[in-house]
Amino acid sequence: MATPNPYPLLVEVDQYIERLFVSHDMVLEQALNDATEAGLPEIHVSPNEGKLLYLLAKLSGAKRVLEIGLLGGYSTIWLARAIGPEGKLVSLELDENYVRVASKNLERAGLLSLVDIRQGAAQDTLEKMVQAGEAPFDLVFIDADKDGYPVYLDYALKLTKPGSLILADNVIRRIADTMVGGEKPKPGASDPMLTGIQEFNRKLAANPKLESIVVTVTREFVDGLAIARVKD
Ligand code: SAH
Ligand code: DHB
Ligand code: MG
Repeated sequence: MATPNPYPLLVEVDQYIERLFVSHDMVLEQALNDATEAGLPEIHVSPNEGKLLYLLAKLSGAKRVLEIGLLGGYSTIWLARAIGPEGKLVSLELDENYVRVASKNLERAGLLSLVDIRQGAAQDTLEKMVQAGEAPFDLVFIDADKDGYPVYLDYALKLTKPGSLILADNVIRRIADTMVGGEKPKPGASDPMLTGIQEFNRKLAANPKLESIVVTVTREFVDGLAIARVKD
């Protein structure tokens, strides 16, 4: 699907950083193993990106986190570890089976009491949250279906406050596919995931209420994490 990372050096550098800076404990290891065994796709954040999410949450002092796209709970464990025992993490997931797998993983991590999993289509859940006057989040991590990103950004803006962070995974991979060395989309073919990400990045960059950047993230492919702060 995505173009494999054409730069083996970047993969080696990523692995070097991981060996030095990311201690992968049994809880994280088992979360990935159980997810794979249960047949979940291996599309969780990389260990280095998990550590980056953890640090961003800690650096910003986030206590209330919203995650859109739970999968097996791998990124959830990283984020929940950063918010401390008084924190709260709400995670949205469409697939009931993934919710079961993630719940087990979070329980084993001792984090289930901090995490509120809401099963269903994220857009519906987000609309309900806005209608219900949900308290603002300090950090929103967008990582579900890529064509939904522009809508998720609108909701993230409604569910945050000045100083909050909005993060989004996978904002470069499909763009990179269209560039030198990538699998160029066939002329006339439209890829809703590509157009969703393109629109998301444009909206993020142009929103006067946000200060934003994308950092490139290396793994088996070249990708990026968007980092935005809601202005004071
Ligand atoms: N954050 C996870 C990875 C999430 S993968 C991690 O890094 O560990 C994307 C997830 O979004 C998948 O579990 C998929 O089922 C979920 N998803 C896709 N479309 C969705 C939708 N419309 N509403 C809610 N979740 C959705
Ligand atoms: C896919 C989704 C992700 O969130 C990710 O990090 C990698 C891949 C996917 O849908 O293919
Ligand atoms: Mg992702």
